[in-house]
Amino acid sequence: MKKVPSALSPVIAVDRKAAKPLHKQIYDAYRSMIVTGNLGAGQQIPSTRALAGELKISRIPALTAYSQLLAEGYFEARPRAGTFVCSSLPDQLTSSDRLSIRRDDVRSGARVVSRRAMLLPIYEGLPWLGGLGAFNVSQPAFDEFPFATWSRIVMRHCRNPHASELHYGGPLGFVELRKAICAYLRTARAVHCDQEQVMIVAGSQQALEITARVLLDHRSPVWIEEPGYWLARQVLTAAGCRLVPVPVDSEGLDVAFGVRKCRKARAAFVAPSHQFPLGSTMSASRRLQLLDWAQSCGSWVIEDDYDSEYRYGNMPIASLQGLDHHARVIYIGTFSKILFPSLRLGYLVIPQDLVDRFAAVRYVMDITPPHFFQAVLTDFMNEGHFARHIRRMRQLYAQRRTALVEELQFQFGSGLEVLGSDAGMHLAVTLPKGFRDQELAARAAREKLWLAPLSPAYMGETPRQGFILGFGNVRAEAMPKAVRQLKSLMFGDKTIGSKAINSSGYREFS
Ligand SMILES: Cc1ncc(COP(=O)(O)O)c(C=O)c1O
Repeated sequence: MKKVPSALSPVIAVDRKAAKPLHKQIYDAYRSMIVTGNLGAGQQIPSTRALAGELKISRIPALTAYSQLLAEGYFEARPRAGTFVCSSLPDQLTSSDRLSIRRDDVRSGARVVSRRAMLLPIYEGLPWLGGLGAFNVSQPAFDEFPFATWSRIVMRHCRNPHASELHYGGPLGFVELRKAICAYLRTARAVHCDQEQVMIVAGSQQALEITARVLLDHRSPVWIEEPGYWLARQVLTAAGCRLVPVPVDSEGLDVAFGVRKCRKARAAFVAPSHQFPLGSTMSASRRLQLLDWAQSCGSWVIEDDYDSEYRYGNMPIASLQGLDHHARVIYIGTFSKILFPSLRLGYLVIPQDLVDRFAAVRYVMDITPPHFFQAVLTDFMNEGHFARHIRRMRQLYAQRRTALVEELQFQFGSGLEVLGSDAGMHLAVTLPKGFRDQELAARAAREKLWLAPLSPAYMGETPRQGFILGFGNVRAEAMPKAVRQLKSLMFGDKTIGSKAINSSGYREFS
């Protein structure tokens, strides 16, 4: 077979009728792309034959331009490999031109962005989510995931993908995965659904974004838990909703407070199985109160059931959706906690009469997550690996939680209050007076200890100070060291020192 060039073709337009000779046009185009950084140091360039073929010109001008660029040091030739942009271009050759281009862009007149975009704070990676191990809140035990099994299934689908995995799908997602999720939710979460109500999405956050687009208008009042999940708050803020913080106590959302504050709210966003971040489980009476309110006011309940698979002390608690007789609940679930968050797969269970609306909105977004991974996950579930993994992780996280609670009690006594039920992959602690959680968390992150501060989970002005400690990715035997590090950070115990501890024993992000 004829050899196909592997270098990307740069955008070079030549004008045969121009006064400037062709070789000079090619030379100028390459030079300009190199100084602006559009062609990077070390990047491969097409051969003169390939370029001449693409520009439909003779090879001679290409040869002349290339030899000049080689002579001036913009290009380098590598024997038997081809021609490349010089891998050691001097900085002054590139940076000044790039800067001047950026400044020109900024001077180009009014630069209006949407009001919606201005509602959100600028994204800056939070320091306490920056690394692996103790006590990053969003991490399952990565090293316990059955990658051998997963990769076998991935390989199977790579070698012999079904055409349906390669083509566009419908906005509800891969039908076989919807079936598998439906069977799981009916059994394990007592959710009332059939597969036509299940929509596969790229994680809970997208599920909420879609829900907001379908159900909420600009300025719609929405109850949110106080304190609550800050990313959900941001999604609702970006949708232009008016957020109504409703306090959470040991029975979950204080529904009576919500009714007094804003009875006519369009929706309530709740995590009844395991409230984030305080960890309470919503009581049966509050659940019924919430559903009654939704029915009587024509409002919606958005249920975030993000980690309910993990309950350690007592029986699993059924979903709120399963109690609802009026199709008022939009149920959101995720694979981020059971499998791993970068998979970006989750699901919605939608009331039957709203499925068409949700599908229409979803279709104008990214349609559906990659079918390939939906198909892999389907096999993972149908072959029993999913249920087995949950069972194993339930035992492991129970041990890790016990180890953390015992260690906190041992090292802090009553100095830290531990909140929340015996569930999930995180717990919250509150700090004694005088400690500032965000300040401590920023310092801890410099020592590679990841402490999510509690105060940003509050909208109100008098937040509690504390930390949300994730234990999913911290081995039980690493707990004493990690808790000691936390204590030293708070009280300055010099014997512990400030050496970085990566309690998961994992490679750090570079
Ligand atoms: C309260 C809560 N809901 C949902 C999620 C999962 O989000 P996603 O499915 O977008 O990864 C998280 C993740 O940390 C969470 O803390």
